[in-house]
Amino acid sequence: MSNCIIAPSILSADFARLGEEVDNVIAAGADWVHFDVMDNHYVPNLTIGPMVCQALRKHGVTAPIDVHLMVEPVDRIVPDFAEAGASLISFHPEASKHVHRTIQLIKSHGCKAGLVLNPGTPVEVLDWVLEDLDLVLLMSVNPGFGGQAFIPSTLDKLRAVRAMIDKRGKPVILEVDGGVKADNIGQIAAAGADAFVAGSAIFNAPDYAQVIAQMRGNVAA
Ligand code: DX5
Ligand code: ZN
Repeated sequence: MSNCIIAPSILSADFARLGEEVDNVIAAGADWVHFDVMDNHYVPNLTIGPMVCQALRKHGVTAPIDVHLMVEPVDRIVPDFAEAGASLISFHPEASKHVHRTIQLIKSHGCKAGLVLNPGTPVEVLDWVLEDLDLVLLMSVNPGFGGQAFIPSTLDKLRAVRAMIDKRGKPVILEVDGGVKADNIGQIAAAGADAFVAGSAIFNAPDYAQVIAQMRGNVAA
């Protein structure tokens, strides 16, 4: 068993049975709940907000909730998510006027802070903020939709960010999001990722426990 973090994206869950879906995926061995927030402005899709996060907590979900904000502007919604029970909050630098300020805002509300890099965003955006971050999330698809194919150049980008993190010496979680499946997770892990978002690969599978175990096995291999 490896100590990788598996974070199923509820974007591909059955929203009519969301609490049950989250319970099932955690019981099946998932570590975090990945919570995709889209605003039909920063990305061309519309999903869920703090009320749903709060509802999951009220339902009894105790696993870390990994909130991925694809919204612009970012700052106004951060306190609401912190109050709603978010554990980690990640945002896209293009959606914040003051990236450093937003990181501090997230941390001042007691959450871990992450920065998300789109496939076209250069890794240099991390240069002066990496030491303030708890997590870096590399998008391996363009944000907005589940079920897209993994963009292969993400592997080189993962290696570059892994080297930056290792050079700094402070532990920062390196997460990857988009097109992650049991059959490519091994090479994604080998490139340096330690947390893996998977939506369609898990929620479209007939047996969540089986696919999560297979993913962990392929990370460890
Ligand atoms: C895309 C989202 C992803 C997505 C992953 O904007 O951030 O979390 O739902 O879905 P799959 O695993 O289906 O590519
Ligand atoms: Zn996401």
